Amino acid sequence: MTKTEWRKRIKQLLISMDENNRRMKSEKIAALLFKTEQWQKSRCIGITVSRNFELDTSLIIKKAWDEGKTVSVPKCYSADKKMEFREMKSHDDLENVYMDLYEPILEKTKLISKDQIDLLIVPGLIFDKKGYRIGYGGGYYDRFLQGYQGSTVSIAFEFQTAEELPHEDFDIPVDKIMTENGNFI
Ligand SMILES: Nc1ncnc2c1ncn2[C@@H]1O[C@H](COP(=O)(O)OP(=O)(O)OP(=O)(O)O)[C@@H](O)[C@H]1O
Ligand SMILES: [Mg+2]
Repeated sequence: MTKTEWRKRIKQLLISMDENNRRMKSEKIAALLFKTEQWQKSRCIGITVSRNFELDTSLIIKKAWDEGKTVSVPKCYSADKKMEFREMKSHDDLENVYMDLYEPILEKTKLISKDQIDLLIVPGLIFDKKGYRIGYGGGYYDRFLQGYQGSTVSIAFEFQTAEELPHEDFDIPVDKIMTENGNFI
């Protein structure tokens, strides 16, 4: 299957997931993430604000705040496909930019530089055993990961994993992938 075919297939599976199932598995995955060394050591995380059909990251954001971690979330610039992370201190720092997609409001949030982030939770639609991922196709994370030095962990439902996926020269694999069943890699 091509990247495009994988995206279509997995997006369909995410959309058709039962709400209870999504919530329960999201909680399980969050609990497993909190036990990792990467989480426990981190002081500043980069994480996406999940959309309705995705693995729910809101519990992770809350937990990070509770533990006094700095939470930063992406602001994307479609013109040059660049992305930056900005500090999120509350939901009021976000604005709805498209459908159910939320991003930080520039005037309310401060820029967090790439070297301040020590744990980046890298999103994706599907992941393989080598850490390669297929995202939504913007190349935003591949660009951002160039020169990023901190840890990378991805979280996903088990059906978002595959043995081997197509990848290109610019694709950068993640260090660790966790699902509701534990460590995938
Ligand atoms: N480091 C880079 N510099 C310039 N262009 C890049 C870079 N990485 C990826 N791209 C471009 O981005 C496009 C999308 O890449 P890809 O199909 O791997 O997206 P993706 O990994 O699914 O997206 P994302 O990183 O946003 O999750 C590619 O066609 C490629 O040309
Ligand atoms: Mg890629």
